Amino acid sequence: MSKRTAVAWAASAAAAALAFAVFAQNAETFSEEQVKRGSAIYAQNCSPCHGPRMMDPQAPADLRKFPPDQKVRFVTSVTKGKNQMPPWGDLFKVEDIEALWAYVMAGEK
Ligand code: HEC
Repeated sequence: MSKRTAVAWAASAAAAALAFAVFAQNAETFSEEQVKRGSAIYAQNCSPCHGPRMMDPQAPADLRKFPPDQKVRFVTSVTKGKNQMPPWGDLFKVEDIEALWAYVMAGEK
């Protein structure tokens, strides 16, 4: 294999690995119960700003488009707040935040 071929091969292997990682993230599965719980927490706490069922086009952040591979960012923003968004860390248990993540990812599909 020439050096150039080897580099090209390595690059495409990296791209395939990345695609697989993204696919694996998207394939993350959530229990129906978890999504329901998240939906209830969302309706009560998040909908005033983010819109009922995440559907407000004027919402400050469109949660339906939140990147599936940025769970850490989601948890951090929700726990500690971000700019105009208040922090929720004192209000929710870890399972609640997990449920919100499940709801946002599984979403209103
Ligand atoms: C008082 C209004 C308000 C409420 C209530 C609210 N948010 Fe937000 N949220 C915001 C605003 C404003 C932003 C945009 C922050 C920014 O990027 O400046 C935001 C951004 C976000 C983001 C994106 C953060 C990022 O990293 O870009 C997530 C995720 C989020 N909210 C989740 C939630 C969840 C889950 C709830 C319910 C527990 C909630 N929000 C309740 C106002 C609110």
